[in-house]
Amino acid sequence: MRVLSGIQPSGRLHIGNFFGAMRPQLELQAEHECFYFIADYHSLTSNPAPAEVAQRITDVAIDYLALGLDPEKTVFWRQSDVPEVTELTWLLSCITPMGLLQRCTSFKDKVAQGLSPNHGLFAYPVLQAADILIFNSNLVPVGADQKQHIEVTRDIAIRFNNNYGEILTLPKEHIIESVAVVPGLDGRKMSKSYDNTIEIFEPEAGIKKKIMKIVTDSTPVEDAKDPDNCNVFALLKLVASAEELSEWENRYKNGGMGYGEAKKRLAELIIDYFKPYREKRVELASNIGYINEVLENGAKRAKAVAAETLAKARKAVGLGVQ
Ligand code: ADP
Ligand code: TRP
Repeated sequence: MRVLSGIQPSGRLHIGNFFGAMRPQLELQAEHECFYFIADYHSLTSNPAPAEVAQRITDVAIDYLALGLDPEKTVFWRQSDVPEVTELTWLLSCITPMGLLQRCTSFKDKVAQGLSPNHGLFAYPVLQAADILIFNSNLVPVGADQKQHIEVTRDIAIRFNNNYGEILTLPKEHIIESVAVVPGLDGRKMSKSYDNTIEIFEPEAGIKKKIMKIVTDSTPVEDAKDPDNCNVFALLKLVASAEELSEWENRYKNGGMGYGEAKKRLAELIIDYFKPYREKRVELASNIGYINEVLENGAKRAKAVAAETLAKARKAVGLGVQ
């Protein structure tokens, strides 16, 4: 079973990304052949400053390696190091109905927010389809927000195969049933667009400060509190042992506990949870040569697969010497 997923290099990763997407993706390495890449072509649709592009890619690569991506097992590369994918994008574009892309909600949402869309943003799902199809992927683990893009991929693959023969493998989506949505400091979904995140690798003092600011209700210390409606408790669930969690649950329900106490413990637990990864990250960040080597090796392995699918697809549509 080949598992494939892409990660946009669009900012520092937060603990919502970790518990909601990265950890489940990394766990799949134990049982499957995983292909994970940094979707730098996709990130250009938001026109990042050129000086920031390379740094963001390196940061995401270091984060993934620090958090347990095993480059011996998993093929890990920069999307733009395998440009074959853009050629397949063109072949797929020519059989993709405009209406299919016009119906994509992530595009429609961005337009509704007032963003003036470029063609790259409109064509984004076709590039994503090419990413998936060029590597004959069977399973694509993504958050629920990406479900429609996987459906579009299958639709495009079916059209291509109907027109030109059975060339492309149909993937299945694997919607990551995460530990529910991780709340941010203000209680909304943790997201870099809401500025309510706890970044995985921000300095420990910053993590403590942010956690003390998590929004809670104003129940007095002595009163009973509802753990199921508390942002602090929702985060404790991610990092506390089952035993400790049930102790906190009792303390919430019995009253006599202030939220400040729970927040202090939450900060300790989050810091402890990520400590080994943080150490690993420091080590990796001092060895950029190694990071580049991992990505280049990954690109070589990825390219071998991509070139083969692309050659079949070119031939099938009638290009090149037949
Ligand atoms: P952001 O909302 O910060 O822009 P992205 O949309 O880039 O994050 O998310 C990348 C991945 O992380 C997606 O697969 C998404 O499902 C997951 N993710 C992001 N935020 C959360 C959250 N608060 N809880 C659970 N999963 C999340
Ligand atoms: N669109 C995905 C996201 O924003 C990133 C992505 C690009 C991707 N290509 C992919 C995910 C291929 C899965 C498969 O999260």
